[in-house]
Amino acid sequence: MKLIKLFATLALTLAVCLSLEAKPKIRIIATGGTIAGVSSTSASSAYTAGQVGIQTLLDAVPQILNLAEVDGEQLVNIGSQDMNDEVWLKLAKRVNQLLNEEGYDGVVITHGTDTMEETAYFLNLTVKSDKPVVLAGSMRPSNAISADGPANLYNAVAAAVSPACKGMGVLCCMNNQLLDAKTVIKTHTIDCDTFEGGPSGIIGYVYNGEAYILQTPNNKHTVNSIFDVSKITKFPKVGIVYGYANASPLPMQAFVDANFDGIVLAGVGDGNFYKDVFEVAVKAQNQGIQIVRSSRCPTGPTCLNSEVDDEKYHFVASLSHNPQKARILLMLALTKTHDWQEIQQFFKEY
Ligand code: DGL
Repeated sequence: MKLIKLFATLALTLAVCLSLEAKPKIRIIATGGTIAGVSSTSASSAYTAGQVGIQTLLDAVPQILNLAEVDGEQLVNIGSQDMNDEVWLKLAKRVNQLLNEEGYDGVVITHGTDTMEETAYFLNLTVKSDKPVVLAGSMRPSNAISADGPANLYNAVAAAVSPACKGMGVLCCMNNQLLDAKTVIKTHTIDCDTFEGGPSGIIGYVYNGEAYILQTPNNKHTVNSIFDVSKITKFPKVGIVYGYANASPLPMQAFVDANFDGIVLAGVGDGNFYKDVFEVAVKAQNQGIQIVRSSRCPTGPTCLNSEVDDEKYHFVASLSHNPQKARILLMLALTKTHDWQEIQQFFKEY
């Protein structure tokens, strides 16, 4: 009889221990943005980004502690219009350290929305883990009426602890939606529903603390990416030139004169140049500056050898990359090769 009681006690203890099993460990890295912004009056749209620190953000959402063991660090506190290569390098190296050396199960990055899509894509190509990395921001400052930051942060942690988000690449979590790093784009200057997922739409959504994945990205990313920034301290210089009727060749000439390594054209239509700009582009390519044709059109691919004979000029067509994403991929591609055909292959794969 005593033996039965002992076994029953042991079984009950085990059950209680299992029910208290440790929650996933999530690190939140704060970089600033509107989510950390403060407006002079909660009704005003005038505000300054990057004002409050990580602890204030966490204090606003105590429910996060029901989802995970969370701690945070402030990497920088800037408006994301000031995001730069130095922060990107620090961020990628820190995320890899947290996920591969410090035992974290996921990382959430709070970030301004202006360049969130760029940071997400850069990390998609440089993070060396399949654990969830989720960016969150807000369109209203932290002290605004109906601030959207706390819910976005809570949902981002819910995604970061979700096994469904493992292996999806870097994600953005805004307005209950999950968007993948390659297709995410900010489409509206002030709307909370500003982010869209391009032609393929959103990758999933978060609701009631649960993440649901609707589709899987088909491009290479994270652990399948050839790009490694662990030993990089400086990136190749790549600029973007905007195309329009009667465009001046001066901006492209300025990049050439400044010895840039690559130039992306945000061209008209299917990545077309104004004739004066085209002439500078051909000279630039011939002196070893890689030209990538992209488009100012919000949707549709920039196709290889369409109205422009890329084969003849050794231009790269950006395919499904808009100018800001094409710039990031070209910058990283140039750390590997200057061969236009090898770079074109990267645009097909990533
Ligand atoms: N300054 C902009 C930024 O940090 C504000 C936009 C926002 O975060 O929503 O990206």
